[in-house]
Amino acid sequence: MADGTVRPVKLADGQRLWLVSGYDNVRRFFTDDRFSRARAIQMGAPSFDNPELMINMDPPDHTRIRRFAAHAFAPRQIERLRQPLMDFATELCAEIADSQPPVDLVPRFANLLPIRAICDLLGIPFADRQRFAHLGDAASVIPGGDTGPVRQAEAQLGEYVGQLVESRRRCPTDDFLSTLITAGDKEDQLSESELISTVISILVAGYQTTIGQFSSFVLELLQRPEQWARLRAEPALFPSAIEELLRYVHSSTAGASLFRVATEDVQLDGGTVPAGGAVIASLKSANLDPARFADPERLDFDRTPNRHLSFGSGSHYCLGAQLARLELQIGIAALVSQFETMRLAVPAQELRYAPNLAMRNLVALPVAW
Ligand code: HEM
Repeated sequence: MADGTVRPVKLADGQRLWLVSGYDNVRRFFTDDRFSRARAIQMGAPSFDNPELMINMDPPDHTRIRRFAAHAFAPRQIERLRQPLMDFATELCAEIADSQPPVDLVPRFANLLPIRAICDLLGIPFADRQRFAHLGDAASVIPGGDTGPVRQAEAQLGEYVGQLVESRRRCPTDDFLSTLITAGDKEDQLSESELISTVISILVAGYQTTIGQFSSFVLELLQRPEQWARLRAEPALFPSAIEELLRYVHSSTAGASLFRVATEDVQLDGGTVPAGGAVIASLKSANLDPARFADPERLDFDRTPNRHLSFGSGSHYCLGAQLARLELQIGIAALVSQFETMRLAVPAQELRYAPNLAMRNLVALPVAW
């Protein structure tokens, strides 16, 4: 499946799609504006179908909204999160070390670090995390059935974020949210509901993905004790190790992209997607394409270059990629350095994933040491 192909597929619910595979095809899928996200949600994508979420927009609206968000996501705003996140990860590890094994890393570590990062980024008190995480979880599920609860969670999340924006307007700081509000207000180019939707985009896209990747990366490393030992011995490897895990482990997006609709016939390697056709791209086939990555099935922390497509490409390229990298590096480094002999406390076959068509997140990851 890693070769460049375009195939018709039928989903379990009867929807017909074109599946695009192979590195070059998948990159074209992300970068060719004739594949439209806005058209995809008009066709009734099962969730995330708010047309004001930036992931659901096409140019020129997408370009305008994304410019504000990218401005607020300046490297300075990400870098200021580093030390607090390192301190928090060390704290979580110390609490785990003080506990009686086995400990479930999902609630005790994987769930907490990305939520802490989003709270710090948006200036939300960490104590509020239950409230917004509950709504964010409900809003980011693609249920495959009744969408009522998703709608309700989206509406409540909108209310919550509206209050947050209002309070920051009253007392501005120099944080991410204030930067976004000020930029939008100054140029009078971001309506109130667009502003709220932009924050929701970041909130919803920003932690479930990282939570999923985090526990899957730890699982992968626990099954390779020699790699765990190597990272302990060579901490300088962390950035390239995380990059390779991003390429190799296909979990947070279940190995596939969000879908788009072709606005005209688009010719790709191995076939044509007809105008009006719904298309989905296999990220897994791109990241394991032997034409792009030598020995692609090997987890190789020395791999360079490593231009995987796990964060997408083109105009919708993941806005939080740098933050995700920072969180994953800090979290995995804290665990690996604190626990020399961490191991799975149950057979890997007993681990289960949450029922969600959009993401593949482990329900529990019990470990001992
Ligand atoms: C390991 C964790 C993450 C992965 C694997 C991931 C993956 C992706 C992918 C593949 C896309 C493009 C989707 C498409 O074009 O169809 C995307 C978009 C996006 N991501 Fe991430 N993401 C991660 C973490 C984050 C974080 C931490 C944030 C924010 C704090 C974030 C915010 C966004 C936003 C706002 C978009 C939409 C950008 C746009 O439409 O222009 N992501 N992400």
